[in-house]
Amino acid sequence: RALRFCSSVPCPRHKPSSKLSVRDALGSQNTSGERVKVQGWIRSIRSQKEVLFLHVNDGSSLESLQIVADASFDSRELTFGSSVEVQGQLVKSLSKKQNVELKAEKIEVIGNCDAKAFPIKYKERHPLEFLRQYPHLRCRTNVLGSILRVRSEATAAIHSFFKDRGFVHIHTPVITSNDCEGAGELFQVEPSGKTKIPKENFFNVPAFLTVSGQLHLEVMSGAFTQVFTFGPTFRAENSQSRRHLAEFYMVEAEISFVENLHDLMQVMEDLFKATTMSVLSNCPEDVELCHKFIAPGHKDRLEHMLKNNFLIISYTEAIEILRKASHSFTFTPKWGVDLQTEHEKYLVKHCGDIPVFVTNYPLALKPFYMRDNEDGPQHTVAAVDLLVPVVGELFGGSLREERYHILEQRLARSGLTEAYQWYLDLRRFGSVPHGGFGMGFERYLQCILGVDNIKDVIPFPRFTHSCLL
Ligand code: 4AD
Repeated sequence: RALRFCSSVPCPRHKPSSKLSVRDALGSQNTSGERVKVQGWIRSIRSQKEVLFLHVNDGSSLESLQIVADASFDSRELTFGSSVEVQGQLVKSLSKKQNVELKAEKIEVIGNCDAKAFPIKYKERHPLEFLRQYPHLRCRTNVLGSILRVRSEATAAIHSFFKDRGFVHIHTPVITSNDCEGAGELFQVEPSGKTKIPKENFFNVPAFLTVSGQLHLEVMSGAFTQVFTFGPTFRAENSQSRRHLAEFYMVEAEISFVENLHDLMQVMEDLFKATTMSVLSNCPEDVELCHKFIAPGHKDRLEHMLKNNFLIISYTEAIEILRKASHSFTFTPKWGVDLQTEHEKYLVKHCGDIPVFVTNYPLALKPFYMRDNEDGPQHTVAAVDLLVPVVGELFGGSLREERYHILEQRLARSGLTEAYQWYLDLRRFGSVPHGGFGMGFERYLQCILGVDNIKDVIPFPRFTHSCLL
């Protein structure tokens, strides 16, 4: 690495500089000249009289660290976007804009950047659609930086939530031979042409990327009682919608000895609220920036969601509400037909922007594993979806059919008896009432940050006709 800029070599009697992240430097209490080293990328550069001001960011925080260098520094290679290592003294800043700044003694350019060729201009507020063209560079902007730090915080908060409640974390497989949701939206997995094993013989059965870890979690809840998984999930949905991806992350939980939907819904509501509170307290500036930049007014909407108890209506009531609405829908709401996004949006608005659980869906609309309510001609199952502002459906869950003979009949009707013998076994060997749910993680982030398009809350979005990088 070439040492390009150096005004003065630090005195050998001084202690060697300790390396700090920008976040730690900004939060440091030790501002009486502590000698430190900071590495990052130049976000802005400004010269004023005999002084050069740089802002350096390393992604550890939204705020950048101000570097103050005297005129003896050669500024020719200090361009926007270059990576640098700065050594100097941490001091109290005279400006009201920041508490701390770094008085540079040595600035080393690690990698320079042709700022003119860099497609993202920092002083401009590029729309999110524009930034989507540059999945390899957009993470260096403030807005994507904030979204992705929130994503990281929310991931940690979800793990803490389950750990604090005694759930066991299970790694469910990515490659599987079952189609949990039965919707057939599967990506098939085969070895590439270079392997010596014929592709149809690799697993001996057709294998797919998982659409849900639920069935594997059900196996584990039969041993550990409360389990969760949080991993990538794949659906070959032909959709370019603002809330669908071909690869998304799902948080799934499965709980044994749960006998009613209310207990399950309470866990979903607690998960949403506890995760959001944790994000708000750990990265408030990032959330604030997203709200300000992307969705002004969303802060109040989020507070409203957090302070109110979530509402509960049945599917039948939901259809009634929709049928009585003066709104004209593209798809006429009808009992026995699935809710469309426009219906979900209307229901959330109707509920005053408070998240609403919709329960007890027609059996014919739902997969074989949901518990039969045995409630006469309308015939529903103990299913629940949570609808929220911004995205509509955020969670899907149900009580599971734990009664052997009923499950056996349901599987037989779908021609699945043979493939699901192992699943029936769970009902033969110590079956218990149980239930679970899945939450789309990207939709969760959209909901709390007010991000309209799901492609902006995941680092590398994959969807129909697009797999950049
Ligand atoms: O409602 P879904 O399909 O439920 C299941 O997969 C259950 N087996 C989960 C369980 O009970 N363990 O999906 C759950 C959630 C949806 O509510 C939605 O938020 C999200 O996953 N989701 C998607 N998110 C992004 N892109 C897609 N293509 C999605 N499909 C579902």
